[in-house]
Amino acid sequence: MEDSTIIVTGGAGYIGSHTIIELMERTPFKVLSLDNHANSSPRTYSRIEAISGRRVRSIQVDLCDREATLRAVAEAGQVKGIIHFAAFKSVPESVREPGLYYRNNIVSLLNVLEAAGAYRVPHFIFSSSCSVYGNLAELPVREDSPLGQPESPYAHTKQVGERIVQAHADVMPELNAISLRYFNPVGAHRSGLLGEDPINPPTNLVPVIMRVAVGRMPEVVVHGGDYDTRDGSCIRDYVHVSDIATAHVKALEHSMRAPMAPNHAIFNLGTGQGVSVLEAITAFESVTQQRLNYRIGPRRAGDVAAIYTDTRRTEQALGWKAEHSLNEMMAMAWAWEQHLLQEAKG
Ligand SMILES: NC(=O)c1ccc[n+]([C@@H]2O[C@H](COP(=O)([O-])OP(=O)(O)OC[C@H]3O[C@@H](n4cnc5c(N)ncnc54)[C@H](O)[C@@H]3O)[C@@H](O)[C@H]2O)c1
Repeated sequence: MEDSTIIVTGGAGYIGSHTIIELMERTPFKVLSLDNHANSSPRTYSRIEAISGRRVRSIQVDLCDREATLRAVAEAGQVKGIIHFAAFKSVPESVREPGLYYRNNIVSLLNVLEAAGAYRVPHFIFSSSCSVYGNLAELPVREDSPLGQPESPYAHTKQVGERIVQAHADVMPELNAISLRYFNPVGAHRSGLLGEDPINPPTNLVPVIMRVAVGRMPEVVVHGGDYDTRDGSCIRDYVHVSDIATAHVKALEHSMRAPMAPNHAIFNLGTGQGVSVLEAITAFESVTQQRLNYRIGPRRAGDVAAIYTDTRRTEQALGWKAEHSLNEMMAMAWAWEQHLLQEAKG
């Protein structure tokens, strides 16, 4: 094993935890998670340990606390890279509480970048989002598509976040930075032992479907049935969380192969397939052989009508392609939900 460390901020969260597993399985580096558990439980680490057989080093730290962030990164020893997942991610919550989102997502990013500079960390990956594209007429979206108006404060934190990463890359030529624009990560680890388990009520489709199916929430509300799409519901590009996780390993490898020019690159992470909310519900019903209680409700502020990615740039540069089908995503999310039920029964 190498003596240097990859820091994963938000490592107890949904995508961070799956990425830690892939880093442990596919790279020689040590891993350190920095998380304040604002939307996760430290129990995630024992789940990762059960799957990987390796202990997860972690420090509980609020990355909005500058001094504490600098101390935590210093404690890591020699840091080869930082993958910065930590952020708040609910579009509707960001519309209701913009200050919370701007403060948490921007201040934590600034502190983590400052620490990266202070400790000469050569590789930096930023969790961005397809929400930076806004409502684009031209689909599929490409990395060089012009960014639209951000539809929510959350989306705006990601647009600004990318600009902040760019500005730091401009003055830190030794830094190799990559912003990854995730489309809609769903599903769970193939073991059934790890998946999405947010502290705050979920607002994303798949965790809501799962909670309704097991009776933890009353119904799925489809936010809008009158969009200009093939069945009136929104269209998204659902991509398996473990595919997203392996893309981070590929991005790190890309960054480490040779100094990048320019030293900040942007890649979309999606399957390239647009799936409507109603089609996703049908996939769940057919995989699990059960009816889901759902109804069409009004549109939700902050949502775009349709978005899916052009996959070519990521395939060519990173050699990454999403592998899991929508049915596999639903089946694995369902297996994880069953595991959570068993755990709750003791
Ligand atoms: N899940 C998605 O649908 C999606 C889509 C696009 C982009 N993203 C981005 O990917 C990243 C990870 O998302 P996720 O789905 O794993 O979310 P998550 O909420 O499961 O994980 C985020 C983690 O960051 C931690 N965190 C938040 N603020 C923090 C702070 N100030 N200090 C320390 N820890 C903090 C939370 O406790 C949580 O464990 C986020 O930046 C999110 O915006 C997610």
